[in-house]
Amino acid sequence: MIVTVCADKGSPGVSWTATALGMMWPGERVLLEADPSGGDAALRMRTPEGHLLARHPALRALAVDVRSGSLPTSLLNYAHQTSLGIPVIPATDMRTEDFALIARQWPAVAAAADKWSGAVIADLGRLQEDNSAGPIAAASTIVLLIARATPEGLYHLRERASALTARLGQGLHGRSPLTVAVICPAREHSARLRDVQVQLTAEATTSNIPVAGWIAEDERSVQALRTGQLTKKLAGGDLLKSARELIHSLTAWRPPAEARQSPPWPGPAAAAPSPPGAPPMNVGGWSQ
Ligand SMILES: Nc1ncnc2c1ncn2[C@@H]1O[C@H](COP(=O)(O)OP(=O)(O)O)[C@@H](O)[C@H]1O
Ligand SMILES: [Mg+2]
Repeated sequence: MIVTVCADKGSPGVSWTATALGMMWPGERVLLEADPSGGDAALRMRTPEGHLLARHPALRALAVDVRSGSLPTSLLNYAHQTSLGIPVIPATDMRTEDFALIARQWPAVAAAADKWSGAVIADLGRLQEDNSAGPIAAASTIVLLIARATPEGLYHLRERASALTARLGQGLHGRSPLTVAVICPAREHSARLRDVQVQLTAEATTSNIPVAGWIAEDERSVQALRTGQLTKKLAGGDLLKSARELIHSLTAWRPPAEARQSPPWPGPAAAAPSPPGAPPMNVGGWSQ
């Protein structure tokens, strides 16, 4: 399954939220850096030995292999192990123009990621209409839209939620993948969740979007993540505790499929068809 993490605008904390969710996600998982505004996972993360991530493999290699049809046996072949315990496929050395070059490969990457036995936590950054990685969102089981709990953050959350409701429709799995979460101080989370609910119900198009929960605004934990060291303080901090709770709510809403017996990485011919009755891959006009 794919879990897209995204935002409307600004820099509310998509990448660290995706990282925290990936760290706490149960079972096999990988963090996929798919933010066309540029890759920085390779700069933020370290190997378990504390070194910089090697330049290869990376997203570029995955896209090239998808194009040529020479796919390896696992998505993890493109991932680096990190000191935070989560494997990552970084968009190393990729800027917006490089993402434009691989745009046509996203539908096949998305199909393969959806069929993989583990969870692909995809960081899409700002999910506007021109986001070339949109096919990843269109193939996601969950699209988690996040915002800061400020008046402007919540306003933009509603605007984007409304646009994404129309764009994603029933998604690849025949039911809307869209849900929202807010980043706020732990002590305020009940009040801020009420604010989100008020914002969403103010408009008919967003009133049925479920609020998945909250992520703690916790600078200390983010600083600890930056150092790449898994300390007891980090493990017991608000950020990872809130990530665990959020995952609980997300997986109760959209449970991961049973581990598949079939090969986890279908070839290009097998990657294209949608399940019977499901909408085609070009959900929301994002794929080609
Ligand atoms: N949960 C959080 N609590 C406090 N600060 C955060 C949190 N998440 C992100 N930040 C801060 O917000 C800034 C942007 O974070 P980042 O995850 O890179 O955002 P984005 O991917 O949306 O651009 C960083 O300076 C980071 O330290
Ligand atoms: Mg980011």
